[in-house]
Order: sequence, then structure tokens, then C-alpha cells
Amino acid sequence: MNMSGFQYHKSKKYTDYGNIYEQCSGPGGLQLAEFMAEKMGLAAGKKLLDVGSNRGYQTCFLAKEYGVFAVGIDPWDDRVQGNPMVEHLRENAKQWNVEDFVLGIKVGVPETHFASSSFDYVYSTTALEMVRVSQGIEAYLKCLEEIYRVLKSGGIFGLGEPMHLDIKLPLDLEPYVSQGDYPWKECFRSIPETTQLVRSAGFEIIEADYAPDARQWWMAYAMHDPFCKQNPGEDPKTLEIDGGRWTSFGYVICRKDM
Ligand SMILES: C[S@@+](CC[C@H](N)C(=O)[O-])C[C@H]1O[C@@H](n2cnc3c(N)ncnc32)[C@H](O)[C@@H]1O
Repeated sequence: MNMSGFQYHKSKKYTDYGNIYEQCSGPGGLQLAEFMAEKMGLAAGKKLLDVGSNRGYQTCFLAKEYGVFAVGIDPWDDRVQGNPMVEHLRENAKQWNVEDFVLGIKVGVPETHFASSSFDYVYSTTALEMVRVSQGIEAYLKCLEEIYRVLKSGGIFGLGEPMHLDIKLPLDLEPYVSQGDYPWKECFRSIPETTQLVRSAGFEIIEADYAPDARQWWMAYAMHDPFCKQNPGEDPKTLEIDGGRWTSFGYVICRKDM
């Protein structure tokens, strides 16, 4: 059989979506982590910072499958169990057999306290939009500037965020995206708005777009995320009403100048 051009998708090894969505938080899970890693061109032996690592499941995946040394930072405690999120990272590291290749630190952007130019890569998915909604656009920009500071020259930043398509919010959807502690209407921005901010923090944009599998990731999240399962009238209902018209998932791959 001719295998030239065959693309092996590492995350297809990991099909236990119930477990993946228990350990990750937000759409995409390991498929998102793999998508970002491929776009960022992760190389073995390099240092990666995962900003907003939550339980560190994606952090461990990146260390295991791409051979990077990965530091996961997350300032929050588990909202159910009350222990620091980075304690879950440590437990997950044992299960993934990457204890010597990952490190969890309970800290957040913009005050990471890492020395400048410490990392070859920074990866952040479904995290910074929370800062924007809770602390405003200035704080979001400060986070981007901190990421720029801790990256080495020539280092790559991969940002993945729930975003909305570049269209007007449909009127019938508005009540659904205006509810909860983190209303999607306030959290989500479009690709043009996000790239402009990333550029203003000093980055050179390599690629920015909506992920082709965004809708599939959102539907998997609606089906498997434990909070979605408990509250079908919240995010799953919003996604049903939306029907893929407005909600998406965007990514920005960018570089710190040499
Ligand atoms: C929705 S989870 C995303 C986890 C994972 N990256 C994913 O995509 O599945 C977002 C995480 O961002 C963290 N977070 C919130 N504010 C942060 C900050 N200022 N710096 C770093 N992480 C932050 C939260 O603690 C939370 O665990």
C-alpha cells in the first residue's frame, strides 16, 4: 500500500471522549491540542509553557506525543474538589508517564514571574478569554505582553479560543449567549479582533483562522463535558439554537521577532 501523504493523527489513539472531556475543559480536548501542536510545529527537546493548563491533560499529551518539556500554569482551584488545578496535572503526569517532562505551577498571566526569554513555545487554549471577560481588554493585552516577554526570540505562540464568526449576533441567539458567569457574548471575539490584539502585543502573525473542526469539537463538548451533561439547558441548548451560525473556535499562530 502506498503510504505517501498518509497523515497519522496521534489523538486518534485517544478515543475515550468521556475521560478526555472530564480532564479537559472546553471544546476540542486532545484533538484541539494536536491541531495546535501541528500548527505550531512542536519539536522534541524544546520548552513549552501551557497557559491555563487546568488539569494538565493537554500538557501531558504534548509532552508525551511531541517530546517537549512542558510547564503548565493555572492559578485556580478545582471548583468541585477545592484543590489546586496543578495538583491534577501532577496526577495526570503519573498516568501519562511523563513525570520528568512536565511541571505544574499555581500561577497565572500576567504575573508569571518567569525570567524573560524562557520558553521556545507558549500554548494557550480556552483560557485568556476568561481574563478578558472578568478583567477587561487591558488585562487581556497585558497577558499577551507577558507571553511575548517569556518567549525566546523566534519562539512560537499558539492561541486557541472559542470565538464567534465575523457576523452580527443573531437576535434569537442573544438571550442564550448573555447568560451565566462567563456570557459567551462577552467572552467571544472574532478572528480579526483577536489578531489585531495579538499583533499589538508585538507578535508577527503566521496564521490565523477558524478551526475547520470547530463545530465537531463543540458538539463533542456538549455531549461529553460533565457540566454539559448535568446542565443540558445551558451550553448544549445554546449550541443547538446556534446551529453553527455564530459560535466557532479560532486559532492564531504567531512568532516573537528574532
Ligand atoms: C476552560 S480551562 C481550559 C483548559 C485547557 N487549556 C483546555 O483547553 O481544555 C481555562 C483555565 O484557565 C485558567 N485561568 C484563568 N485565569 C487565568 C490566568 N490569569 N492565567 C492562566 N490561567 C488562567 C483557569 O483556571 C482554567 O483552568
